[in-house]
Amino acid sequence: MSSSSRTQVGIVGAGPAGLMLSHLLARAGIDSVAVDTRDYETISTTHRAGILEHDSVRLLVDSGACDRVLTEGREHDGISLRFNGEHHRIDFQELVGATTTLYPQTDVFVDLAKARERDGGDVRFAVTDSDITDVRATTDGERPRMRFTDADGERHDIECDVVVGADGSRSVTRQHVEGREELFRSYPYAWFGILCEAPQSYDELIYSRSERGFALISQRTDKVQRMYFGCSPDEDVDAWSDDRIWEELQTRVAGEDGFELQQGPIIEKTVLPFRSFVCEPMRYGRLVLAGDAAHTVPPTGAKGLNLALADVRVLAEELERFFAGKDDALDAYAERALARVWRAQHFSYWMTTMLHTTEEDSDFDDRRHLGELESLVSSENGRAWLAECYTGWPNKPAG
Ligand code: PHB
Repeated sequence: MSSSSRTQVGIVGAGPAGLMLSHLLARAGIDSVAVDTRDYETISTTHRAGILEHDSVRLLVDSGACDRVLTEGREHDGISLRFNGEHHRIDFQELVGATTTLYPQTDVFVDLAKARERDGGDVRFAVTDSDITDVRATTDGERPRMRFTDADGERHDIECDVVVGADGSRSVTRQHVEGREELFRSYPYAWFGILCEAPQSYDELIYSRSERGFALISQRTDKVQRMYFGCSPDEDVDAWSDDRIWEELQTRVAGEDGFELQQGPIIEKTVLPFRSFVCEPMRYGRLVLAGDAAHTVPPTGAKGLNLALADVRVLAEELERFFAGKDDALDAYAERALARVWRAQHFSYWMTTMLHTTEEDSDFDDRRHLGELESLVSSENGRAWLAECYTGWPNKPAG
């Protein structure tokens, strides 16, 4: 069986970026088809970051995608930067009048998938043999096509006005951007991430630098917590018993104030390698890239999901202009999105390098980083700058 049809926007990738775009387009009266090679179950159980910027929360709520973030999300007024065994609070609310919300990416995905289903959106999970063609679309009347086999084995060939690559960091659509420049940086460290069944140890996030290295204390629910510690990118998960993990985490947050983590059984362990990556331009012909397909950041600044949502908010606006006949709209998207991407790249790189240690670090490097942290937290301007970056910048306006 095979069928051919057409849609205005073909979206490759039905994670949070693809689904949010499809949702926003539907509200603007623009139809789309979103496909993903992963099945619903896989996406909804892949644990990712959990912090939403103020504007990401607003986007979810104001667009009618989800109210649950307001009732189940935990609003945080700040974070703690911990070093020399002491907490140094960065009060976002007081410094810049903004907050962040702890609400896991898996919940954002589930809410968006539900909203698409509720509104009759066309979303196909578990597709195979998907590809896109004719994205260059230089001659009049030429259109890109999105092809795939759906979960029931039916082959589809969909003519689209625009194709959006929202297919994550291992993006296949990105390969179609001819002449692209791929800018990246790798790091000599990774995160060892755990989920554990334990009560909360602290009511905000703690980003800690210690002689033993980095640790991040985050939460999920009253009974389940998320924590990370910096490790080598080739760390062997099986070499880490629960006892060894707890000892490492406790050492990395210990201090004269007697702060200790509440322990419990560890229910998931993963190593997350990270890197910084940007593909320029984010547009080629009738193809545009959004989210991780176009850029990746290390997780230290909690920017990944927020950047993806910021991309698609701008993209939805520009696609509306595109369908109203504005020829420059796709370029305008790429330009507006990139401006934010590079700010986030810098911030994520900066947070990462300031807080992590490597085997090669000299005592000088170590003291220099502590000097940087000291200088940051003792300056109201320094704290305000961090608060501004962490809670999110406004998008570059249209036009
Ligand atoms: C998380 O809760 O998983 C989390 C929070 C903040 C980060 C990264 C991950 O910077």
